[in-house]
Amino acid sequence: MKRRFRRIFGITLLFLTLVAAIGSVTVLGQGGKAQASELPSLREIYQDYFEIGAAVSIAGWSSKTFDRHRELIKHQFSSLTAENEMKPEALQPGPGNFRFTDADRMVDFAVEQGMKVRGHTLVWHAQTGDWFFRDGKNQLIYEKDVITEADRQLVIDRLENHIEVVMEHFGDKVYAWDVVNEAVSDGGGAIHRPDSPWFQILGDDFMKIAFTKAHEVNPNVKLFYNDYNPEMAYKRGRTIKMLEDLLADGVPVHGIGIQGHWSVDGTTIKEIEQAIRMYADLGLEIHITEMDVGMEGFTEEQQAERYRELFQLFKKHSDVITSVTIWGITDDASWRRDENPLLFDGNGEPKPAFWALVDTDKPWYVNKAEYTNAVEFFNSAGEMVGALKPGDYNLNELDSLGFNLAEVTGLQVEKGHLITFFEQEGQQGTAWHFITTEDFAGGAMATQAKSLSIASIETDNIALNKPTKANVLGERAHRAVDGEKISSWSPSAEPPYWLEVDLEGTYLLSRWVVRLHGTGPLAGEVEESPFNAADFSLQISDDGVNWQDVDVVEGNTASICDRDLNLVKASYVRLYVTRPTSVDRNNSLAVYEFEVYGTVLD
Ligand code: XIL
Repeated sequence: MKRRFRRIFGITLLFLTLVAAIGSVTVLGQGGKAQASELPSLREIYQDYFEIGAAVSIAGWSSKTFDRHRELIKHQFSSLTAENEMKPEALQPGPGNFRFTDADRMVDFAVEQGMKVRGHTLVWHAQTGDWFFRDGKNQLIYEKDVITEADRQLVIDRLENHIEVVMEHFGDKVYAWDVVNEAVSDGGGAIHRPDSPWFQILGDDFMKIAFTKAHEVNPNVKLFYNDYNPEMAYKRGRTIKMLEDLLADGVPVHGIGIQGHWSVDGTTIKEIEQAIRMYADLGLEIHITEMDVGMEGFTEEQQAERYRELFQLFKKHSDVITSVTIWGITDDASWRRDENPLLFDGNGEPKPAFWALVDTDKPWYVNKAEYTNAVEFFNSAGEMVGALKPGDYNLNELDSLGFNLAEVTGLQVEKGHLITFFEQEGQQGTAWHFITTEDFAGGAMATQAKSLSIASIETDNIALNKPTKANVLGERAHRAVDGEKISSWSPSAEPPYWLEVDLEGTYLLSRWVVRLHGTGPLAGEVEESPFNAADFSLQISDDGVNWQDVDVVEGNTASICDRDLNLVKASYVRLYVTRPTSVDRNNSLAVYEFEVYGTVLD
């Protein structure tokens, strides 16, 4: 297997003495594609919090996730929703013409697997045959100038009959129904959305009719009102008013479904949390019914972080949030497939977002490395010869790793992890640290090292608020490390300019970031600009006297320079700028922030 390596900046061998705790020795086999059933199970992980569900579909309605991913579905989820198969147009495409085959297949599977089923949905303005709304002359009632009492009664009868036949068919196998979907208006003024035929024909009454009937048919079932954006301030007031009125009128509404078609930026956690509190105050149970997080313009890692913070919020409120359903299984079959909003990719492989949910207290890559591999080892032909999970390993016997270390020339180390080789057994003596590198001396390591450890490392911005010095405008240099992205160190004299930070300790550095002219309010937060520093380097030092370049940037125009480092050891860092802009004779440098990420040694 060939692998693309992350950008690296030469190899770094560090000689330092560490005394590490002696852990147990685990030796694991080769890495490879995990079987669906070998992945951690969200169903088990969330069992004490809420039901964790997925929407699935059968070919013909939308992409075929139900038959393609059964193993995955039963392993990961405790609840199931039909993405389309239980909507009115699916269950009753023509008057009295009920079709339950597809829905039954899903429900039977769920029952077999001990999963719950959420019914979606009985009353909606979309995906509902228009025969529901035609009079005896085949005329659309909601288009008529005068809607008669007989017209109204006809539509009420159809509504009630649909609810009765469907709910009786599924009985207690469906424990919760979205009785009404998307009834609240997006605009101010009216409460109900004006384009719903149900509203146009029956007015405010249709909600009461639907919920009352549903409760009468099966009083065991939890009845939900479901909508998009009921958590958002613009729609919350109207939704609460509608629900309050229904509850005051004694209408059996038991819960609110928040669809949750979110994006990485979008609605803030605070806004969603306020809504959760407000709906809980009405005495309603809360289900997140159709969650997905569109990735548009963001990375999989940012998407994972968003899933993580949303689930942290749901866990915090698991006294009122009793179910969270993800709207689909794999990105390729998502209704928002252009935005890759789900937990699994088109091959059914878990994405960072999945790993983020495995333990929301840790970054996704730490969760991933614990279950799969933290380090993969490659030979000079680029083939993977072995892989290891986090842990401590002794190298005393040749085959203790399951592969030959001597032939390894490249390492792929999971983000946020570090592999350290030790001169002595039990993770003691001289230590050599690595992250991803294409230039690994496996032969030398095989003879010199007697043990190794693979662990996750926490990296922070270690330059933040540390003592600074600069050759120009030294009294303002601290503004480049104050964590404020609007205050800058802006020398304008004769280059070179340098800015030094005393880290007040010894660190292993893994990344550095400089926020330049273009990120500032004056430049308008642009991505590129000729006024960004062009030529500069990161220098390191043990004593603040002798400096060494560790990463050199030339011809830069980007406003943010964000670069990885292969774990260099330093006590002092220095930004050394030789060309402050790409513009001739313009010597004005602006550094809004200089960040250096690392992990403390000792
Ligand atoms: C979507 C399905 O995912 C699609 O396959 C279908 O083509 C249209 O409907 N709000 C809802 C869901 O309540 O029923 C919708 O599902 C997505 C928006």
